[in-house]
Amino acid sequence: MKDLVVVSNRVSIPEAGRSQAGGLAMALNSALARHGGMWFGWNGEICHDTSPQPTQTRRNGITYATLPLNAEQHNDYYLGFSNEVLWPIFHFNLGAMKFHRHHAQVYYATNQHFAEQLSKLLTGDELIWVHDYHLIPLGEALRRQGSHAPMGFFLHIPFPSAELLRCIPGHRDLLASFFAYDLLGFQTPQDLETFCHAAIRILGAKRSDNVLRYGDQRLKLGIYPVGIDVDTLQREAQHSETKQAVRQLRTSLGGCALIAGADRLDYSKGLGERMLAFEHLLDDYPHYRRHVLYTQVASPSRSAITEYDDLRQQLESQAGHINGLHSDLDWVPVHYINKTYPRTALMGLFRAAQVGLVTPLRDGMNLVCKEFVAAQDSRDPGALVLSELAGAAHELEGALLVNPYDPHAIAEALDQALQMPHEERCRRHASMLASVRCNDLTRWWQRFLDDLGYAVSS
Ligand code: F6P
Repeated sequence: MKDLVVVSNRVSIPEAGRSQAGGLAMALNSALARHGGMWFGWNGEICHDTSPQPTQTRRNGITYATLPLNAEQHNDYYLGFSNEVLWPIFHFNLGAMKFHRHHAQVYYATNQHFAEQLSKLLTGDELIWVHDYHLIPLGEALRRQGSHAPMGFFLHIPFPSAELLRCIPGHRDLLASFFAYDLLGFQTPQDLETFCHAAIRILGAKRSDNVLRYGDQRLKLGIYPVGIDVDTLQREAQHSETKQAVRQLRTSLGGCALIAGADRLDYSKGLGERMLAFEHLLDDYPHYRRHVLYTQVASPSRSAITEYDDLRQQLESQAGHINGLHSDLDWVPVHYINKTYPRTALMGLFRAAQVGLVTPLRDGMNLVCKEFVAAQDSRDPGALVLSELAGAAHELEGALLVNPYDPHAIAEALDQALQMPHEERCRRHASMLASVRCNDLTRWWQRFLDDLGYAVSS
């Protein structure tokens, strides 16, 4: 078996003797542990060097080769082109795009720098698996460095329509750079189809089943919905019931039904529309007043970008407005929390909730809704209100699907969820849990790596 090299923008090195906290990180570590290998990427720090160099750390048999970004790379590659051009466009938000030619140049230069640094660490006998929109041109840059390794790329976020993609200056080169990989993985069939359509229309690529040819390059495509580690999360959720904080949370509900959401503070998550929906619920269904609470955790993210900071202020004002208008001396309807919690605490929150509210305006997959499903007590599960524009909507047929742009429709779904009969909740939950189990985290990486091996041998 070849060694595996995982490359992602952000790498967090597990603390010695402790397992990795994030679900995806756990999956990639388990893939690396099985194959042996290395995880390469940004260590989250900013330095003054013009050419930052990687340092290597060994943990549990895996090498973590991480490097800082310098201020220009952080500003132009990470904040600028990755998160002010690719992120908004790939999430269908043209209005949030801020293009600067220099940012695009630094994006390509940083990918080139990563490729040069990574190449020095390769033996030539690895499988390389690159992750996400920050690193689209990395494969091409590695090929320029002479790498002939089997190379796969997985896009964690949605792929935009050809018309939106065309709004990005230089989109042809970006699109063509995908063809340096042997296998390209998407979250949903729609993403695969929009990619094919764009490649055919913009580049003139030729399609045969799930293989695209562009010049003499051949790219295999596949669908690999990211999942969760169901057993671990179920254990954490069960265990949370013994924790004091979760017991106190349940007591503090005072018999009210809990609607819970937990997201990164990102405009793609539809948090403003969610607040409006909750306000409509209190206005249009006044019998819920004093009988329902909405807890929204919004963990700070990319706060150096104006849109993210504006959103934080907007949500504070919306939560304050609802509470000012509707609260009573002994009841405060919105519990808005702008901080990051460990996953175990969120599992406790989800387990205590009657309704999970997950309404992104656009999302590649969204693992929060899957975590909510795993967190439920199947003898008395909560209901899930889910955006039909999240990738997970393809899998979770037992959810109440809503258009996330329509706060009145979300309020109606909340009402339906809050009064859903026990038998219906159990039936919907069983179907969602079965689906989450079927596409779990291990299946995700195993299928991708099997197909990558096959893509280069066929
Ligand atoms: O979901 C996309 C993603 O970029 C993930 O890869 C990452 O873990 C998350 O968003 C957080 O973003 P950032 O690395 O910009 O803080």
